[in-house]
Amino acid sequence: MKKILDLLTEEMKKAFEAAGYDTALAKVSVSNRPDLCEYQCNGAMAGAKQYHKAPIVIANEVAQKLAGSEVFQEAAAVAPGFLNLKLSGKFLADYMCGMKTEEKFGMEMPARPKKMVIDYGGANVAKPLHVGHIRSANLGESIKRICRYAGHDVIGDVHLGDWGLQMGLVITGVQEKQPDLVYFDENYTGEYPEEPPFTISDLETIYPAASARSKEDPAYKAKAMEATFKLQNGVRGYRALWRHILNVSVADLKKNYGSLNVTFDLWKGESDVQDRIPGMVQYMKENGYAYISDGALVVDVKTDEDTKEVPPCMILKSDGASLYNTTDLATIMERMELYRPDSIVYMTDKRQDLYFDQVFRCARKTKLVRPETELVWIGFGTVNGADGKPFKTRDGGVMRLENLIKETKEEMYRKIKEGREMSDEEAREVADLVAISALKYGDLSNVPAKDYIFDVDRFTSFEGDTGPYILYTIVRIKSILAKYAEQGGVINSDTILPAAGESEKGLMMELAKFNAMMSSACEELAPQKVCAYIYDLANAFNHFYHETKILAEEDDARKNSMINLLLLTREVLETCIDVLGFSAPERM
Ligand code: ARG
Repeated sequence: MKKILDLLTEEMKKAFEAAGYDTALAKVSVSNRPDLCEYQCNGAMAGAKQYHKAPIVIANEVAQKLAGSEVFQEAAAVAPGFLNLKLSGKFLADYMCGMKTEEKFGMEMPARPKKMVIDYGGANVAKPLHVGHIRSANLGESIKRICRYAGHDVIGDVHLGDWGLQMGLVITGVQEKQPDLVYFDENYTGEYPEEPPFTISDLETIYPAASARSKEDPAYKAKAMEATFKLQNGVRGYRALWRHILNVSVADLKKNYGSLNVTFDLWKGESDVQDRIPGMVQYMKENGYAYISDGALVVDVKTDEDTKEVPPCMILKSDGASLYNTTDLATIMERMELYRPDSIVYMTDKRQDLYFDQVFRCARKTKLVRPETELVWIGFGTVNGADGKPFKTRDGGVMRLENLIKETKEEMYRKIKEGREMSDEEAREVADLVAISALKYGDLSNVPAKDYIFDVDRFTSFEGDTGPYILYTIVRIKSILAKYAEQGGVINSDTILPAAGESEKGLMMELAKFNAMMSSACEELAPQKVCAYIYDLANAFNHFYHETKILAEEDDARKNSMINLLLLTREVLETCIDVLGFSAPERM
């Protein structure tokens, strides 16, 4: 099914052509003066120069050709030369019927789906997720779902930080607490125990302590570096211990991401591509891309067009150690080989902008990717507290994501219990669902690069531009539909009749924007567009609801038609919240 604006433009083209004007002028857009008209076309203004005529003359001629149009109920030429348009109720109602019956509301699927890898989450093993991790998780999950909905073939990869010094630090921390563990016995040749020698809470205290100590104690740091070296060189006990760290940590990460409805197809990490590094380095050397500078191996990535300074991309440090870049480049190589993606999308804190610029330049220059492969980086801003500084716990510590979710659920529970008759158990369940909508919507409704203030009170409000408001609207529709069924109402046809009033037509016009909105959210990788859309749609629905007696309607055909419109509205809203990564309860 074509997008509504395309259909309107086609109709307008016919009129321009019939009046003897260039059809390129016939573009129709949503009205920027909704008080005057629903849609508009400014082509006569643009055509004035080309045809040496007053715009109003052209507009009048085109408007005449639209008399009797089945698409426009009204096309008025107004000074100085605008075409103000109103849709035919029948045309719009038929469009609604099409949306209601066709798969994915008639959204057109790409002729050639793109293969995409979305690299998000980016958690570091043995470190608890903190408030900042919510952005990469939400954003990546939603972009993955949007692009899938739009018909692309998408793989989500968590790309764990599971290698390097951070792992050496944990191992050293473990050794300090439990020096007699068999993993540290170099003469041990037997099987290692299957049970890990620590729990996730142990790990969560070990890493920060080890990391802090290594900053003050050079001998400790040297030990951690040695442990890293042993791990990377395959010392058996260190590898076995590292496996345990990874398993314990991943189980916990799965639980935490799961509570945000975030799942990954691939649980790969930095460690997975270590074997590829030597081959990649050799390839870069042999082809003259990489050279030694001050002992380090680097690739120049500055071009003649650059006006700013772009430092070379370092591939190996002077001691031969690899870096974050090295792993990312080897990962690109692996992804190209295994999945041949058309596009790889990353999201991280926006402070990694220069880093990704270098990595992408290096991947292109060294031809790790094809010239047409898209490499996209989305940098997101910080989650701040009311003071405008990075969000902290009440006593000034780093806010763990787990606690942030817990606190939001508590606040939601309080609000749900306030003024509602609901058992504690049901209230908990509902609060959990609604809290996730509050967190996700509060996050995703922002342009990613913007910092935002985490305001629990605002995010959990049932009014305004919030997740709970959207859910409230869906629940309201569900309850009308349930009452209709209780009263013995059956839906005996798919028909949607022309709107009986302005608010009903307004709702239909919002629904009609779905296809175009979802395509552009996919093209621009922009969940905030879905949020903005459902806020408008929920408002349009609530306006209609307040002005209309639905269940008390006596004309059966009209009632049936309104019920169909409600079903369509509910389905569109539910599809949208699903791509945002949350869902609605039955009641709230
Ligand atoms: N672990 C990294 C960090 O904490 C994020 C990883 C992002 N993805 C990537 N391919 N570099 O900053």
